[in-house]
Amino acid sequence: MTEPGDEHREPRVDDRGHPLAQMILIGIVASIIGTAITLMIDWFPEDASGSAGQVDTLYDVLLIASVPIFVLVMVIAIYCVVRFRAKPGDMSDGAPIHGNTRLEIFWVTVPFLLVTGLAIYGWVVLNDIEAKEPNELEVQVTGQQFTWTFDYPQEQLKNARELVLPVDRPVQFEVETKDVIHSFWVPQFRLKTDAVPGMTTRLRLTPDKVGRYEVVCAELCGLGHSTMRQFVRVLPQDEYDAWVEEQKAGDTGGDGEDGGTAQGKELFSAQGCGACHELADAGTPSGVGPGLDELAEVAAERKPNTDAEAYVKESIEDPTAFVVEGFPEGVMPETYRDDLSPEEIDALVEYLLSVSGGSEQ
Ligand code: CUA
Repeated sequence: MTEPGDEHREPRVDDRGHPLAQMILIGIVASIIGTAITLMIDWFPEDASGSAGQVDTLYDVLLIASVPIFVLVMVIAIYCVVRFRAKPGDMSDGAPIHGNTRLEIFWVTVPFLLVTGLAIYGWVVLNDIEAKEPNELEVQVTGQQFTWTFDYPQEQLKNARELVLPVDRPVQFEVETKDVIHSFWVPQFRLKTDAVPGMTTRLRLTPDKVGRYEVVCAELCGLGHSTMRQFVRVLPQDEYDAWVEEQKAGDTGGDGEDGGTAQGKELFSAQGCGACHELADAGTPSGVGPGLDELAEVAAERKPNTDAEAYVKESIEDPTAFVVEGFPEGVMPETYRDDLSPEEIDALVEYLLSVSGGSEQ
């Protein structure tokens, strides 16, 4: 017998069986179990668009192609760690490896064919989904921190806070952003596209199931990212038409309330202020920014030498000038000064102060 350390260790064929045969056997069994579990899990939410079926099939094919490979690699790694573990005190080198041409050709060719095949399949599906359809409804989607607004150029409808779509009609979304990158996503439609500053991205789909689904921002876009959620309602054509009429009627404003506050209330909703600010009158929940319900009182405490009106106005036009303690700087967009006219800002200020317990009318 030679002393330990004098020779290189070789994989041993002992009473536990040949390591390669064992690894292959365990690998095959584990792959079958892994793939079966993967396919049993219901990965997808409800399916509500014409392309969802194709997307789901593509995902299943990807899972069937990748899960066995992942499981096999893990089995080999774990098996080797357990089986060929060095004995305590064994400081000898492992056997030198000279390479194996046949094995190398195999593990370069198989992944190459697999990845190329999947890429072609993905391209075919994408091409099919993105094909132009007749009679498309055009919807312009605008993202901003932290809200979505929707314009319907064919209906002459602007600044809708809710996405409403007629069922079974192809839609083309044109997605833009006013500030940072957001991502427009309705999980039930499956498709998703980024809203990128300086460009317009497009998305085509046909909602095919009446219902109410969430519109989600899928790109980390700032502190309020998780609050950037709205709804899409898919309606029968006649209900959609009625909604459009209702929106247009609502656009003219003035339902008996004082002109300025009514306009301000509309702006509060249209500009998405409620995505970040709690305000009881608008029914918005507490969020990322300071609540606005006691605005008139706290204005005096925060800025004793400024009147409430000037304080609120400054906060909209130049949000970094004064940041309420406990809230981070730079979250409130600085775009309102340019996006809103001076009259609109005045209307917003008037509205906020009228509903927050100050400046009794
Ligand atoms: Cu917008 Cu995340």
